[in-house]
Amino acid sequence: MIKIGVDYYPEHWDRELWDKDIARMKKAGVKVVRIAEFAWSRLEPEEGKFDFGWLDDIVSRLKGAGLEIILGTPTNCAPLWLYRSRPETLQTERTGMKTETGIRGHRCQTSPVFRKYAGRIVAEMARRYANDPAVVAWQIDNEIESNHCNCESCTAAFRAFLREKYGDIGRLNRAWGNDVWSGDFSSFDEIKTPLGDKYRYGWLNPSYMLDYERFAASSTLDYIRFQADILRAANPKAVVTTNGCFGEHTPDYYRVFEALDVASYDNYPTLYRTEKNPNGKQAFVLDLIRGYKRQNFWVMEQMSGSFGCWGPISPAPRPGAIEGYAVQAIAHGADLVMHFRWRTSVRGAEMFCHGLLDHSDADNRRLAEFTRLCARVNELQIPESAVLKSEVAILYSYEQEYAFKVQQMSEGFTYRRQAEALHAAYKRFGVNIDVIEQTADLSGYKIVLLPAHFVADETLAKKLENFVREGGIAVVTARSGVKDKCNACLMRELPGPFAPLCGAVVREYDGIGEAEVALKGANGKNYTATCWCDVLELKGAEGYAFYDSEYYAGEPAVSVRSLGKGYAWYIGAVCGGEFYEDLAADTLQRAGIPFEKLPENVEKTIREDDGRRFVFLFNNGEEARAFSHGGKTVSLRPYEAAVFKERK
Ligand code: GAL
Ligand code: ZN
Repeated sequence: MIKIGVDYYPEHWDRELWDKDIARMKKAGVKVVRIAEFAWSRLEPEEGKFDFGWLDDIVSRLKGAGLEIILGTPTNCAPLWLYRSRPETLQTERTGMKTETGIRGHRCQTSPVFRKYAGRIVAEMARRYANDPAVVAWQIDNEIESNHCNCESCTAAFRAFLREKYGDIGRLNRAWGNDVWSGDFSSFDEIKTPLGDKYRYGWLNPSYMLDYERFAASSTLDYIRFQADILRAANPKAVVTTNGCFGEHTPDYYRVFEALDVASYDNYPTLYRTEKNPNGKQAFVLDLIRGYKRQNFWVMEQMSGSFGCWGPISPAPRPGAIEGYAVQAIAHGADLVMHFRWRTSVRGAEMFCHGLLDHSDADNRRLAEFTRLCARVNELQIPESAVLKSEVAILYSYEQEYAFKVQQMSEGFTYRRQAEALHAAYKRFGVNIDVIEQTADLSGYKIVLLPAHFVADETLAKKLENFVREGGIAVVTARSGVKDKCNACLMRELPGPFAPLCGAVVREYDGIGEAEVALKGANGKNYTATCWCDVLELKGAEGYAFYDSEYYAGEPAVSVRSLGKGYAWYIGAVCGGEFYEDLAADTLQRAGIPFEKLPENVEKTIREDDGRRFVFLFNNGEEARAFSHGGKTVSLRPYEAAVFKERK
């Protein structure tokens, strides 16, 4: 059954409070508690001298209360004695200087010395707790970012990665095009990680940079495996995860979670709503997380109060938002939602990062809402076997995300933006959507959306062609088919390998940034185009939308081609107005997928198992909504989620 839990830092509180906290957690309905993340200096106060007394104590108290425990490996925060005595365990920044200590996450992921110490504390913990039935799972480190350290060890690891990939330096020089700007290397030992301040936006060779991003991701995967191996050596059945997030350097979560037992994520829906980001794109993110393993997932940290670390204090979660966003996560496939954090810290950098309880320690509105959530989840009895089934898929890839990050295509044009825009449009119609890896099996899907598939893949183009011929609908968007695997430009007409599928080629393009160009649909409706304008030449496809301003007015921007039993779209711009919604409705209709237009900000998903269907309707907006759904009138306050149980 789905569970609700909290993140707790017992080492920050007097022991007298522990029992009171546990009693209050129980009363609220908590089932699972995560502890020990960040507590290394308390577990090993001096090199090789361990103090597990307090952890044993809290573990036994939590157990005694019938609570399940998730243990964090504390490696995000090595004790300062380690950094002092072995400075090579500290990261090196892009300036070539060692990172200053005093915040967290200073550790170098590849440093053999760091690995020795980290391995020892993780093994100590595993030896003590990995076979304790109350310890239901492990979280490795905290919000690990892809390894962008520039120390000697990481430089050596980067060189080894390249040596392994290219074998000889001549091959690497050719692959990277190092004859440009006399950049040829004579040996792998000349290659460095990207230092200096010209890191992004085209100063550094994009082929080098994409390989560097690939290296950074694989290096982080290695770090995660290193810890998972230790935990699994202590108990092969240990359930191991790590709490994913989207920071500056996102690891390749497809590979990370392939290596782990369950995907998990730190879910902080925005508390700042803006016109451009009215609902935080949370539905997209949750579908992305579920797609990592194509399984239900966990939320390791869930928003519980206003943020107030790393920036000014945010608005408080509005009434309903704590419950509503937790149910939204469940609606998208979360089987466990851990609220961050039980109590707001009174000390340290995050003292205004609000948990459920405030500094006052008094019962409050948020705790009351959280208590209602626990009761509700308990009552709903949603089994973990209830999953989302989707006929619409978005193909995603970190390779593409990295390549886009290395070279932004135009002002405001990101990889995510395309994916999110498509997702949001289909969401308006209440259909389940999977976000899956670009290499995933497409069987079972009727509509496949391929946002900005920049680094082209001949195999994928062939696969989509077969998919379409067999009756599928494919949608390919601008900046697809531009690069080869070396991140060099293909010398062929765009969209490269996707041109035969789409039956259209790009005659020229215009990176207009945040400007707008008018667009007119073949249906007569007016839309807009922004960021990017591909001017198309139709080769078998029909025009679906045409530019209506600029020097290319009248030329096609979007094409549709009927191929075999299906259709392929090419969308040469980032579109505005109701374009994507109209496209979604058109494609859903052609695919024969039932759909309904939901009121703005209302999100629908369905989780089902053999016997039952759980229909979730969530008002992810600040205005109340009343609408009819399946013959009933549904009224939702802001952030309210309704769940209907149906027998199949
Ligand atoms: C998360 C992080 C937590 C805490 C929280 C504050 O990203 O994992 O440790 O810093 O943010 O909002
Ligand atoms: Zn390093």
